[in-house]
Amino acid sequence: PVETDLQHPVDPAVTKPIVLGFSQLGSESTWREANTSSIKEAADEAGIILIMKNAEQDQKKQFDAIRSFIRSDVDIIAIAPVVQTGWKPILQEIKQAGIPVIILDRSVNVEDSSLYITFIGSDFYEEGVKAAKYMIDKMRHHPGVINIAELQGTVGSTPSIDRGLGFRETIQGKSNFRITQTKPADFTKSGGREIMREFLRQPKEKWPQVLYSHNDDMAIGAVEAIEEAGLRPGTDVVIISVDGTRRAFEQMASGNFNAVVECNPLLGPLLMQATKEIMSGRTLPKRMVPPEDIFTQELAAMEIENRKY
Ligand code: AHR
Repeated sequence: PVETDLQHPVDPAVTKPIVLGFSQLGSESTWREANTSSIKEAADEAGIILIMKNAEQDQKKQFDAIRSFIRSDVDIIAIAPVVQTGWKPILQEIKQAGIPVIILDRSVNVEDSSLYITFIGSDFYEEGVKAAKYMIDKMRHHPGVINIAELQGTVGSTPSIDRGLGFRETIQGKSNFRITQTKPADFTKSGGREIMREFLRQPKEKWPQVLYSHNDDMAIGAVEAIEEAGLRPGTDVVIISVDGTRRAFEQMASGNFNAVVECNPLLGPLLMQATKEIMSGRTLPKRMVPPEDIFTQELAAMEIENRKY
């Protein structure tokens, strides 16, 4: 409670906790659950009041949430955008209301970079590069053409676009690597299973020797489809995924996944630190990228206990 001692009045601006409105894009994956928990826990620890709304992968719901934050006059808004286009008008509305914005996890395609203060999130292009480099090395003794199946994430989302691009640009010019099957599966386990089943219903010449999945959940779903088709995941089909959840480490330890490119969901502490710094008038870098790694089967058993999500 704010003290009312007239001899020593307390400046309410100093004691009032910061109110952060956060538009989370959905709850499609294990990564997303870890991301949401990290943000809730970090807000609690930082003494920041968090108003979070889940948009269930619908950009319009994100706009509604953001407008409700503006009406409630929050101090600052953070957005994890489901897709990267279409943000200019709502960001202008927030700017007109004088509320600072942090973009989290996925990016927005806007020319005017003054519409947000900073973008905190992974380098998805680099993740695609890491996945392709691992594959090139892993398959170096494989004779002939290598068919690659790709499970994309949500259409129009930054991780799906950039993971695809980084991967493609890295295999460009290597004519023995061919993406023979590629489709979006929305970052969900059920989507991954369904699309992989579809791939394996096609003629055997198209069947993949490598599966590149844009996240762990889709790859776990695909493992089920691969086993149903009588193939051995991790052996008949080399599986490379992105995220690095505990479940993916279990899949690596049991030989089903061959490698996982890390994408760090624990962005809560960084988000709260940025929130506090913006509210106290400090300048932040326009882009903040958490450190990330790539893990292979050999390291999985050792690392599994360190996985928090
Ligand atoms: O934007 C990050 C991606 O979104 C994660 O890789 C994926 O699992 C999630 O759904």
